[in-house]
Amino acid sequence: MSLPKADYVSNVWKDGLFKNKVVFCTGGAGTICSAQVRALVHLGADACIIGRNVEKTQNMAKSIATARAGSKVIGIGEVDVRKIQSLEAAVERCVKELGGIDYVIAGAAGNFLASINQLSVNAFKSVMDIDVLGSYNTAKATLPYLKESARRHRVDSKSLRPSPEGSGGRILFVSATIHYTGIPFQTHVSVAKAGVDALSNNIALEFGPLGLTSNVIAPGPIANTEGVDRLLPSDVKEEAVRAQPLGRFGSVRDIADATVYLFSDSGSYVSGQTLVVDGASWRMPSGS
Ligand code: HXC
Repeated sequence: MSLPKADYVSNVWKDGLFKNKVVFCTGGAGTICSAQVRALVHLGADACIIGRNVEKTQNMAKSIATARAGSKVIGIGEVDVRKIQSLEAAVERCVKELGGIDYVIAGAAGNFLASINQLSVNAFKSVMDIDVLGSYNTAKATLPYLKESARRHRVDSKSLRPSPEGSGGRILFVSATIHYTGIPFQTHVSVAKAGVDALSNNIALEFGPLGLTSNVIAPGPIANTEGVDRLLPSDVKEEAVRAQPLGRFGSVRDIADATVYLFSDSGSYVSGQTLVVDGASWRMPSGS
């Protein structure tokens, strides 16, 4: 299914910005990550999206490919980010078919509402494994290629000018804001997302000397996503929208635009950061 451009990327970016670049994305069949990848593909990139469900992942890859004539988008299903071997095989296929990896989006996540009383040890572990171990595995499997891309796309340390080939060697984790304050029924996710944030910060420091950047996007309530649907029952959604500081939920385009910024030359000196894209939602006084 092709989507109107205005649904997934703003009109401010230059066509061909990511020409000859490749993005590898876990959780790429999901609503937020597919918009991030669609925006990058529209702007010139080729892409490899990873998911657990073969049909859903392949259908999404076909849909994303419509964002630009001549794009190459591979959908690899049956990949569980908890298993490093299955990720490594997907990375190898991506590199073989698309020629390398310049950008990584680690977006695979698991979520459900459960109080600590209801949450079994295995349920807690499942979310930790998908979010934290899965993000770690994604970084581990892609870092050899990200390092190579970072080397080719380094900003010159003397002139401070960007590489004529543009940007590369960027990893981005999709986190959340719920762990800044804590929230009932989301202990497992809050703990996991704090781990994801820490992972990104450490990668930024450890691999920064190679020119690689690592950042986090923390989406707030984004309309029409699985996350919001799971966390906010429909009877309270309207009221929640009205209570938002900007009087609306975010759109997937808001997240995609932030991704384009972080991956473009404009984001070259931004690393070890969390870009909160939530319209100030998490700063609302509790009880509002
Ligand atoms: C309590 C639950 C549960 C629920 C599962 N479990 N659902 N416990 N309440 N609603 C328990 C199971 O009973 C089991 O524990 C353990 O979790 C593992 O469940 P499985 O189904 O065997 O695991 P698995 O197939 O690996 O599924 C993982 C999952 C599932 C996380 C449970 O929901 C999933 O695959 N989710 C992926 C898609 C997803 O969640 N997307 C949402 C992304 S939105 P026992 O003890 O019985 O063995 C998002 C936004 C976050 O992440 C930001 C928040 C603001």
